[in-house]
Amino acid sequence: MNNDPVIRAATPADVPALYRICLQTAHAGQDASALYSDPEYPGQRFAVPYARFAPDFAFVLDVGGEVKGYVVAAPDTRAFEAQLTASWWPALQEQYRHREPVAPLDANLLHSIRHPDAAAAELVGQWPAHLHINLLPEQQKGGWGRKMIEHQLAALRAAGVSGVHLGVSLQNEQVCAFYQRLGFRHLLRSHAIYMGQLL
Ligand SMILES: CC(C)(COP(=O)(O)OP(=O)(O)OC[C@H]1O[C@@H](n2cnc3c(N)ncnc32)[C@H](O)[C@@H]1OP(=O)(O)O)[C@@H](O)C(=O)NCCC(=O)NCCS
Repeated sequence: MNNDPVIRAATPADVPALYRICLQTAHAGQDASALYSDPEYPGQRFAVPYARFAPDFAFVLDVGGEVKGYVVAAPDTRAFEAQLTASWWPALQEQYRHREPVAPLDANLLHSIRHPDAAAAELVGQWPAHLHINLLPEQQKGGWGRKMIEHQLAALRAAGVSGVHLGVSLQNEQVCAFYQRLGFRHLLRSHAIYMGQLL
């Protein structure tokens, strides 16, 4: 069997892998399994809705049939926010109606589902798209993060998108060096660090 990693479009069958990888990298790049009482919590916010509503910009790293990473993007952040308001958050809000926070990061995540926030206006003006990338530890530091970002940027460019931003948690600041090498620059710092590049 050929185990060379390949970057391919995500399919609905990849959704369980998106939940799993998101959970395993959701704590400033580290495993967050002990910090969420429901293993789907972080993926509901940071991964799965992208594959569902922006499938042309959802890619996975497939190693011999096993998904080891993903990069997802919304080409138009405002349109994506509107789509989630209409078609994603309401069902989750209903599903989690009686959920109480149990594990350390539950409260924050449940709040973000009950009261979804919108990207800052100064970000979406020049950098209308945004993205998320997460690779499992065994696939990190081998150049695949670079290849996946380049793949995503090419897809966004081909779709005529003019700029892209992303958020880095304050606890994961060292990862900014990765994005800087790939052409991103710092845009603003608030409850997270925002970086972007024109395409
Ligand atoms: C961040 C991440 C996507 C980087 O992917 P990667 O495959 O490990 O990175 P690459 O091997 O492609 O590195 C590309 C370049 O960035 C540099 N780089 C990667 N991670 C770095 C880090 N933490 N600090 C400094 N430089 C870094 C590499 O040295 C390399 O530089 P070069 O091309 O000039 O030699 C990956 O490590 C990951 O998914 N981490 C966990 C989840 C996470 O933190 N996601 C980001 C949330 S904002």
